[in-house]
Amino acid sequence: MNTARQPIGVFDSGIGGLTVVKALAEELPGESIVYFGDTARVPYGTKSKTTIVKFSLENVEFLLRHGVKCIVIACNTASSWALPTLRKYFKVPIVGVIRPGALAAVRQTRSRRVGVIGTNATINSQAYETAIHRIDPRIKVFSQSCPLFVPLVEEGWLHGAISREIAEKYLAPLKKQRIDTLILGCTHYPLLAETIRQVLGPGVALVDSAQQTAAEVRGLLTGIEALAHERLHPRYRFFVTDEPTQFNRIGSQFLGRVLGPVERVNGQTH
Ligand code: DGL
Repeated sequence: MNTARQPIGVFDSGIGGLTVVKALAEELPGESIVYFGDTARVPYGTKSKTTIVKFSLENVEFLLRHGVKCIVIACNTASSWALPTLRKYFKVPIVGVIRPGALAAVRQTRSRRVGVIGTNATINSQAYETAIHRIDPRIKVFSQSCPLFVPLVEEGWLHGAISREIAEKYLAPLKKQRIDTLILGCTHYPLLAETIRQVLGPGVALVDSAQQTAAEVRGLLTGIEALAHERLHPRYRFFVTDEPTQFNRIGSQFLGRVLGPVERVNGQTH
């Protein structure tokens, strides 16, 4: 098969990874995508490393059965904990969202005071700190888990008093640290960007890993001469492991456009 024509595989714990698909579609409009959302087992952000790695291995196996030419781990939690193991087990090129997000933040910060928000698992892994310090050890990193943000977004409560109050509470410690850059270290958080911006004010730049990840995928595909020609008609396929009701209901908000058909696959044997 011509590698350029093979799809890019993307996996996430559920629906949130569609924010990464959106960025990939903008950066690489000729590419076909196979998306896998593990909706039966979401959230990953509250689970242990062992479980997250096990699920991630299965997710990659699923995508490989669909003939993907590379894999993007859209999920920050899975990228934080599973990327090294996945790279050890599989030959297919795999891109996570942590390093691209860290790189974007390092380029952005002037004061070298960077905040990171994410799920409990992502923050506990210290993956962003490690990635930032690998690029510039002088940067001070302040982290905060925001576990209520995911259900808030899935409930569609992106604005208003409740979201604002929760954001105030979570972000107060970061405000105190006078950060000038904040990494939105979770697939769902870009949807709360407006509320977060209101709380932190215009002096704090918000970094979304998705765009930088898409740029990294372009670099990777160019390097292995597997970039799809923009005139090719891309095909998007969406697979989930539970009833796609919720996915269909709010997926377009994450993707920024109408979602195509969503196929359910068996949770155990996918
Ligand atoms: N996709 C996850 C992440 O980016 C958020 C949802 C979850 O906890 O599984 O960390």
